[in-house]
Parts: sequence; C-alpha cells; structure tokens
Amino acid sequence: MPDGALAVDGAGRVAYSGAYAQLPRDTAPADIVDHRPGFLLPGFVDTHIHFPQTFCTDSFGGGQLLDWLQRCIFPAEAKLADPAHARRVAAAFCRRRIEVGTTTALVFGSAFPHAQDALFEESLRAGLRTVSGRGIQTVGPDAAAPLLTDEGTAITLTQQEIQRWHAADTGDPATALLHAAVVPRFALSVTSTTLHALGELYGSVRDTGVYFHSHLSENLSEVAAVRESHGVEHYLDTYDGPHSLLGRRSILAHAVHCTDHELSRMAETGTSIAHCPTSQLFLGSGTMPWRRVTARGVNVALGSDVAAGDEWLIPRVANDCFKVHMSEPAHAACSIPPAELLFAATLAGARALDLESRIGNLDAGKEADFIVVDPQRQSLLPERLAQIDADDAERVLFTLLMGMREPSIVEVYVRGRRLTS
Ligand code: GUN
Ligand code: ZN
Repeated sequence: MPDGALAVDGAGRVAYSGAYAQLPRDTAPADIVDHRPGFLLPGFVDTHIHFPQTFCTDSFGGGQLLDWLQRCIFPAEAKLADPAHARRVAAAFCRRRIEVGTTTALVFGSAFPHAQDALFEESLRAGLRTVSGRGIQTVGPDAAAPLLTDEGTAITLTQQEIQRWHAADTGDPATALLHAAVVPRFALSVTSTTLHALGELYGSVRDTGVYFHSHLSENLSEVAAVRESHGVEHYLDTYDGPHSLLGRRSILAHAVHCTDHELSRMAETGTSIAHCPTSQLFLGSGTMPWRRVTARGVNVALGSDVAAGDEWLIPRVANDCFKVHMSEPAHAACSIPPAELLFAATLAGARALDLESRIGNLDAGKEADFIVVDPQRQSLLPERLAQIDADDAERVLFTLLMGMREPSIVEVYVRGRRLTS
C-alpha cells in the first residue's frame, strides 16, 4: 500500500490498517508518527531456532549434520550447564531477536531446566512471543552425554516445564505470549519407548495448547540411521505412533527427504514444516522440494535454524528460499511469488503455531506485532526501490524482502509495545 496507516489501540490491537486517506477520524490517535518513506511490515515469525546455539553460527564441523552436531554443537550446548553462561546466552538470544524483528519464535530449547527458566524470563522481560521446550535426549554419542537423562527424568522435566511456563504470563493460553512445547531433539536422540511415553504425555496436554516440535528427514545419513534404529519405513512414523505427536500445533523442521506418505500424513494432521533453506545450504542437507510439498497442502513456514543457519534475519532466509527453489532441477524449479515469500515469513508461521487469529499480518483486530523498516538506513536500497513504480506492489515487496538487511529495521513492536529503544 503506497500510503498506508496503522492505528493501534490501548490494548495493543490493530484498530485500523489501510489507506492513510481512509483512517477513521475517531480512531485517529493522539500521536501520529510519520514513517514515510519507510514501510510497516508484520513482525517476522521464526518457526525453528536453537537458543543454546546463539554463539555457534559459522562453526566448522568438518562434515554434514551428524559430524557438526558431535564436534561443535553438543559440546557448546553442554556449556549451558553453567547457570551464569545460560543466562548470558538467553539474554543475547532475546536481544538478537529484537534486532532482526523476530517478534515470534518457536525456540528449540536447552536440555537444562535452569537455562529454559532463563530463556522464558528473558523473553518475558523483553516482551517477545516465545514457544519453547527443553531439548529431550535420552540416547546419543559420547559428545552428547552431558545432555542426556533417563526416560523417567525426561518425562518429569518436560511435565514440570509445561506446568511452570505454559501461559505463565497471563494464565490463559489464548492471551499468553509464552507457551510450552514437547521437544525431543530428533528420532536419533530418543528411543521408541521414550517417544511412546512422550506421545502419552502430549495426548494429556495437547488440549491446553501445548506444542510439539522436532526435526524430520534433514539429512540422508540421519534418515538411514533412523530407519535402522527405530525399524521404521518412514521417519515420520517415529512421531506418529499409537499416541501420535502430530497435529495442528506440531511443527517439524526441515522435511527435506520426505516420502509422499509422510507429506500426506502431515497435510491430513495439520502438521507444519519449518523450512530452513539457509541451514540446508550450510550443512549440505539438500533442498526441500517446494512445489511437491506445497502441492500436497502442507503448511510451510520459514525457520532460521540458527546455528546451522547462519542468518538470524528472516528476510535473509526468505532470500535463500527464493534462490534454492529457483535452482531446483528441471520441472521442480519455481519462482516463488513475493507475496508467498512474505506469507512464509509471517502468516504461515502464525498458522503453524495456531496463532493465525492473533498475529501474522496487520488485519484490524489482531495483536499489533509489527516492525518499521527505513530503507534509507541501507546503501542503495532507496535507489533500487525508486526504480519501481510505487503502485507495483509485487515488485516493491520483492526488492524490499530480498534486499533488506538489519540496519533498516528501526522499530519493533509486540502487542503494541515498542521493544526497541
Ligand atoms: N538435528 C538434531 N539436532 C539438530 C540441531 O541442533 N540442528 C539441526 N540443524 N539439526 C538437528
Ligand atoms: Zn534445527
């Protein structure tokens, strides 16, 4: 919209969004802030990001996923056993999210309950929306030993985290900024019996709005190891037992190497994919087949997957998304329309988190999560935008989303509250 206006009411809701000329007089607030020639965008939703890996982007692991986990990630995550370090990581994580305009995130947690306490406390202090759960590991290589517990402890700690943090800020999941999740690291970090027990636990809390989050079919060696150790034909079957962990608040990261059966099950259960192209480039994981996956009706939202993804800024992830799918082989190649890229960065994430009625765009009635983007903070971006007819929304949006970098994000709001200084 070339000359738009956004009105936010005292409760932090969008009272009006639309043309400035039609801004109703009675909703015209006392303070009118003129951001021209800036842009207002919905806050970004990152559906897959690892908080204990805040200091780990661009770690050289000398190989793909399983090597990188053992050499870089498990040792780095073990350091959060120190509460002071965990607190520093949590504070840095929340600061960084504000810098890049990620107002909502599904956060893959630490194994350590004190680190999860630090994350939720810092998120609440910062005013961010956060869904998270401790990373559950009951089996793994030597490097993972400090992160492991037995199965009984895993279940107990997960139950305790849900009781302590799910909707802890308001007491009501329908209004809360904080939500809890059940998060086994991946099928290789837990046994079939642990997944069964987690399925029972999830069945007992899913009606209260608790989430399920894990990784799925990221890397071919991982897929082969899962099939071998769990004796399944399809990786997804490990999460889809008699007490299925799939559903409308279930989000699986990657899904690069899925079978048609798996895509159909995700579509019919309402399970979403957190698509992480930046991470898939870094670890050489392959490319999630965009056309095939979306044609099956699976909801696809973007995830940074920090730290395998080395970009926090969701538009940079959208930029990689555009490039990798344009580069898919032959008939699979596609040029994702700008509106779909924006959707994947915002409303698809809200949908994945079952928060579509509350956030994800600037519709009147939604909670006002938005960012102010000033292209003048960035060299050449104003000139590039000036080349485009201002009424050509598709082209303006494409250049803005592909070209914007962190310096252009000047203000960040969650539920009408300004988080930037
Ligand atoms: N699979 C299991 N753990 C991880 C992790 O930390 N990062 C990524 N990218 N994949 C995983
Ligand atoms: Zn991940």
